[in-house]
Amino acid sequence: MFSAVARRLGTFGALALGALTLTVLGGCALKHPTANLVMGKVLFSSACGTCHTLSHAGTTGTIGPNLDDAFRQDRVDGVKSTSIEGLVSYWIQYPSKQGAMPAGLYTGQRAQDVAAYVAAVAAVPGQDTGALATAGGVKGTTAAAGKMVFTGIGGCGGCHVLAAAASTGTVGPNLDTRLRADCASPASKPLRGATLQQCLRTAIVKPYAYLPSGYAAGIMPANFAQKLTPSEITALVNFLSTAAK
Ligand code: HEC
Ligand code: HEC
Repeated sequence: MFSAVARRLGTFGALALGALTLTVLGGCALKHPTANLVMGKVLFSSACGTCHTLSHAGTTGTIGPNLDDAFRQDRVDGVKSTSIEGLVSYWIQYPSKQGAMPAGLYTGQRAQDVAAYVAAVAAVPGQDTGALATAGGVKGTTAAAGKMVFTGIGGCGGCHVLAAAASTGTVGPNLDTRLRADCASPASKPLRGATLQQCLRTAIVKPYAYLPSGYAAGIMPANFAQKLTPSEITALVNFLSTAAK
């Protein structure tokens, strides 16, 4: 199996290789020497985890490659973390045109923080410890905490429009325009509960119990009951029941 670094460089042809190796593998890492890994993890969970599995971050997306698998051979080959960081940073700016990854999800320092976090943990056995272990997690069940779950570890904004969270995902229903009406519909009530709060809780932990018209099962992750804590789910319900227009 080729390493992710070798595969990416291969797509540019041998002539460009020398110059590219410098840009891809050295440039970015040198420009921003002080990456914040905790911020990187939060940002990764929020914008990348929907599509990518990365064991340390607890994300399970399957639209893009599993990033532990992608960098496993590079670790075996002894590729330095700074090189992996440069590659990830390059991917964030210039994803391959054939793929489904949007370009420029993050720029500048934020891109660097994400790249540094991925480089620190991809294909590394074990779990995050210390400040990293709780990064992305929130305390309490207030609507404000729920907003952090929505934009952070829940990765909800990648798929749902919600003005109160400034999110623009279009994979799932627009929560501003659809949520209240869908939950109030006679077909939804027996399956997701009569109140907006009950409907929200069911929609989050058992997403295919009722499918809003125009949407199919199997897209919204069905593992939020395992991935999020009970208070994070309650916080989401409190946030969404007040935030949805
Ligand atoms: C909408 C889904 C989606 C999102 C969001 C997304 N990616 Fe990707 N990503 C992909 C796909 C699909 C590919 C494979 C593209 C290809 O090979 O043509 C990919 C490829 C990659 C690769 C190369 C892996 C390899 O095997 O060489 C890296 C690194 C990567 N993404 C990192 C990120 C990071 C970091 C973020 C967040 C800033 C992110 N991705 C967000 C879908 C996504
Ligand atoms: C990968 C995309 C994706 C992610 C991530 C995602 N959803 Fe969804 N969501 C969907 C899709 C598709 C549907 C419609 C089909 C269904 O209900 O399963 C949906 C349905 C919903 C509904 C019901 C909306 C209605 O009009 O009835 C709610 C509420 C919801 N999601 C909330 C969330 C929350 C909260 C999160 C984060 C914890 C989240 N979603 C994460 C794709 C996603």
